[in-house]
Amino acid sequence: MKMTSRSFSRAALASTLLATTVGASLLLVTSAGAATTLGASAAQTGRYFGTAVSAGKLGDSTYVNLLNREFNMVTAENEMKWDATEPNQGQFNYSGGDRILNQAVSNGKRMRGHALLWYQQQPGWAQNLSGSALRQAAINHVTQVATYYKGKLYSWDVVNEAFADDGSGGRRDSNLQRTGNDWIEAAFRAARAADPGAKLCYNDYNTDGVNPKSTGIYNMVRDFKSRGVPIDCVGFQSHLTNSAPGDYQANLQRFADLGVEVQITELDIAGSNQANAYGAVTRACMAVARCAGITTWGIRDTDSWRTGQNPLLFDGNGNKKAAYNSVLDALNAGGATTTPTTPTTPTTPTTPTTPTTPTTPNPGGCTASVSLNSWNGGFVATVKVTAGASALNGWRVTTVLPAGATVTSAWSAANTGTTGTVTWANVAYNSAVAAGQTTEFGFQGTGSAEGITSTCTAS
Ligand code: G3I
Repeated sequence: MKMTSRSFSRAALASTLLATTVGASLLLVTSAGAATTLGASAAQTGRYFGTAVSAGKLGDSTYVNLLNREFNMVTAENEMKWDATEPNQGQFNYSGGDRILNQAVSNGKRMRGHALLWYQQQPGWAQNLSGSALRQAAINHVTQVATYYKGKLYSWDVVNEAFADDGSGGRRDSNLQRTGNDWIEAAFRAARAADPGAKLCYNDYNTDGVNPKSTGIYNMVRDFKSRGVPIDCVGFQSHLTNSAPGDYQANLQRFADLGVEVQITELDIAGSNQANAYGAVTRACMAVARCAGITTWGIRDTDSWRTGQNPLLFDGNGNKKAAYNSVLDALNAGGATTTPTTPTTPTTPTTPTTPTTPTTPNPGGCTASVSLNSWNGGFVATVKVTAGASALNGWRVTTVLPAGATVTSAWSAANTGTTGTVTWANVAYNSAVAAGQTTEFGFQGTGSAEGITSTCTAS
């Protein structure tokens, strides 16, 4: 259609009216501000455009030139997974993750952490653990790795792919799941305590439309939000072929309406309709105010884990494909975004207050010590229970909270009371502690817990 000066004015007026109608919380960007790279185009609406990066390719100049030119967010494809970061129990290796992080930061990019806990890519030693030993090792892994990267990451995929593909909407069976259904919330709480500034995401695949799996996750997120379990974002991997489900945008929107950010975290699309499908996915994100950004799972087709399917935006020589232009056009067409996209839980001053309260002398076979992570108006307490010379078959901890402090949620122990003197009893999976060994539980609260004391009794 030919644009006359009258129709142009009408369009401009409509645009102005829309901007006025939606109010200050939405930002409209028109094609007048069209940018020429993915990252810059996404940034026009406060979003990011990212890619998975492999440390082993950082010596490839074509790869690095594309990375630096086009992307402003980075995910380590493998280097921050459990097998890479804790190859032996208690021995951590951040070399691959650090290479990617340093490259990103020194070139003005941000980074998503991927992934703290996953049923795949576990180190052999973790695959051989179960029960409370695995739970403790997993939570320790979350705490150590999130603490190491504290303040440096935009978000963490705290838990990856924990839901089943069987149409039940339930959890996937795994060694982690068999430690108890609360393993996911325990991981999120530990991650928040370790790095209160990172957005904490749940990430999964085959969740791109409204289906039993995505609904199972939706119900978990809704439950977490209602109980104060810290979750800020949901990642939709979006490994697709030819098209996105027709309700892709509606699915993103229903999660956004729960108050979490949504992110497209591992996008790749195979098939002859690739360019159209990339455009549709990008437009869906742009239409959802809380869709913070898109990450493709690699740069060139030859970098993809989907060997031979050519599912990415650049060909093997680093040339832009038709899919690239679809994405760029959709980013430049603008969209609604919240300004700013804020974390949903407190991130204010995060003073790790270590260590803790004095350990009480063992009155009956165990000791307890408390570590606090505090911020203005709130805290997370991690309580370590250590068995004495004899094994424990059960334990009780009594904490005395200062006035004004209130427990709002807890994990890995059952509490009686929420203020003043609060007692904590083991749950089934952590009742048994071998002589000299430890188990942990934790709780989150409002107010200040500075000065908290704890005593432990074997039961
Ligand atoms: O590093 C070793 C190398 O030393 C060894 O010689 C070689 C032999 O096979 O294996 C190399 O490790 C491989 C690693 O990629 C690095 O190339 C692993 O075998 C291989 O399993 C691993 O695959 C990764 C896969 O996750 C499993 O971790 C893919 O690169 C990675 O793209 C893929 O990414 C996942 C996301 O994390 C989660 N969502 C699905 C997505 C695709 O599967």
